[in-house]
Amino acid sequence: MPEPVSADAPIGVFDSGIGGLSILRALRHTLPHEDFIYVADTGHAPYGERSEDFVQARAEHIAQDLIEHQGIKLLVVACNTATAVAIQALRARWPQCPIVGVEPALKPAAASSHTHRVGVLATRGTLASEKFAQLQVSIAGATEFVLQPCDGLAAAIEDADSARTTDLCERYVHALGPLGTQAGQIDTLVLGCTHYAFATDDFVRLAGPQVRILETGEPVARRTRQLLQEAQRLRSGPQAGRLTLQSSGDLPTLQAAAQRWLDGPPAA
Ligand code: DGL
Repeated sequence: MPEPVSADAPIGVFDSGIGGLSILRALRHTLPHEDFIYVADTGHAPYGERSEDFVQARAEHIAQDLIEHQGIKLLVVACNTATAVAIQALRARWPQCPIVGVEPALKPAAASSHTHRVGVLATRGTLASEKFAQLQVSIAGATEFVLQPCDGLAAAIEDADSARTTDLCERYVHALGPLGTQAGQIDTLVLGCTHYAFATDDFVRLAGPQVRILETGEPVARRTRQLLQEAQRLRSGPQAGRLTLQSSGDLPTLQAAAQRWLDGPPAA
């Protein structure tokens, strides 16, 4: 029998790069006493324009290391693309480990849109996936989703290239068509890639203050807390949780991004 996983074990979080820090920020806010290991697979990014087999193999490799070698108590796949193509395989291979994924916030968007027109910005891989098609079908009702793959945007954000990020945001927001609160206009934008949360200022400027912008950090953090409670693996205070950063690419770049985007105690 394997040892039961202790509540003191860390939570593993991974993404193709820095995008998952937007999820980690919400996780650390909701679960301040937990230790986290954050893995950025920068050496193999971006995922969004790669084959499903490639992303699935990377996700399995990272999950194996975190679950079998680093002893995490729960895994958060902080990447829409990896969730879309790999989460089923991860859950089948490690049924003993609770696994939380992220998916574009179509349901809350459909529930809150008054014009029933919602723009969805995501990677090509997410939008082409079977899981995304099923998610769309599962939302009954009159909402029309306007899908926009954003090639190159995650990479521009990863490179902290603000000029390229702004250019690409402009191109993709304009491609969606008219935004606003009048009939026929898109009144809600879904950020369906965890990187895009770091371009929120650009999206707000381009879409205008009346357009609602949805991302997924907080619902993922709530779901994580719920699963930990159910598994009796929730850690309570008083100690503040520690953060360990790991990267298959350049670690100082990840450390600088974490410094910039996370609040709270610095990472090890
Ligand atoms: N941040 C990832 C996502 O949420 C993937 C970005 C990429 O590597 O293309 O989809």
